[in-house]
Amino acid sequence: MNEIKNELTEYADRFTSDEGQVLRELREHCYAHYEDSSMLAGFFQGRVLGMFSRMIKPKVVLEIGTYLGYSALCFAEGLAGGGKVITLDVNEETNKVARSFVERTEYKDLIEFHLGNAVEIIPSLPGTFDLVYIDADKPNYSNYYNLAIDRVPPGGFIIADNVLWSGKVLHDEKDEDTQALHDFNRMVLADERVSNVLLPIRDGLMVVCKLT
Ligand SMILES: C[S@@+](CC[C@H](N)C(=O)[O-])C[C@H]1O[C@@H](n2cnc3c(N)ncnc32)[C@H](O)[C@@H]1O
Repeated sequence: MNEIKNELTEYADRFTSDEGQVLRELREHCYAHYEDSSMLAGFFQGRVLGMFSRMIKPKVVLEIGTYLGYSALCFAEGLAGGGKVITLDVNEETNKVARSFVERTEYKDLIEFHLGNAVEIIPSLPGTFDLVYIDADKPNYSNYYNLAIDRVPPGGFIIADNVLWSGKVLHDEKDEDTQALHDFNRMVLADERVSNVLLPIRDGLMVVCKLT
């Protein structure tokens, strides 16, 4: 079964549009130099995020968790005219690398980097967010959702990565991160202001549409 799944995954990759030169180099740089390279969205999920962005055509994307800028660049592909991606991260070193790759793209003036703790930065940001991507420290997922939800207009979206946490959400005994993600999933499902779908893509993507 796993062999068929792997073959189908490869087939899906093969029949999905190319990511382009800079994203490919960024991915290869990450896999070659970073032990935590699994944090990067990767080819297929990156193409999914880029496609979501093209469908939503957001004016403002708020991304929580920049890492090397891979997903920020994917979201930039679908921005409405005059739109921007605001991306937040605490890590100075990865932020420098992210900036250097973004600088090489047509999106360099559309991506706004903020360095610091996202819990503190989000309340200081002005305006609304048409698309929020939660992809940072797991214990804060619910905090990020609660900080962002009132700033998302009706018809806007919140997407959260890793909500299946390598399947650990199914375990009876849950560590702190797993429990936080399970609580997040329960909180979203119970929120009457939204409609949601948990997509089992890669490590699980929670896609949430704000209704009112
Ligand atoms: C999974 S990675 C993001 C991957 C990126 N979105 C991508 O797909 O290319 C998570 C990032 O969240 C950052 N992070 C962790 N805690 C944070 C916090 N409290 N505030 C801001 N960023 C944080 C980490 O430094 C790390 O770079």
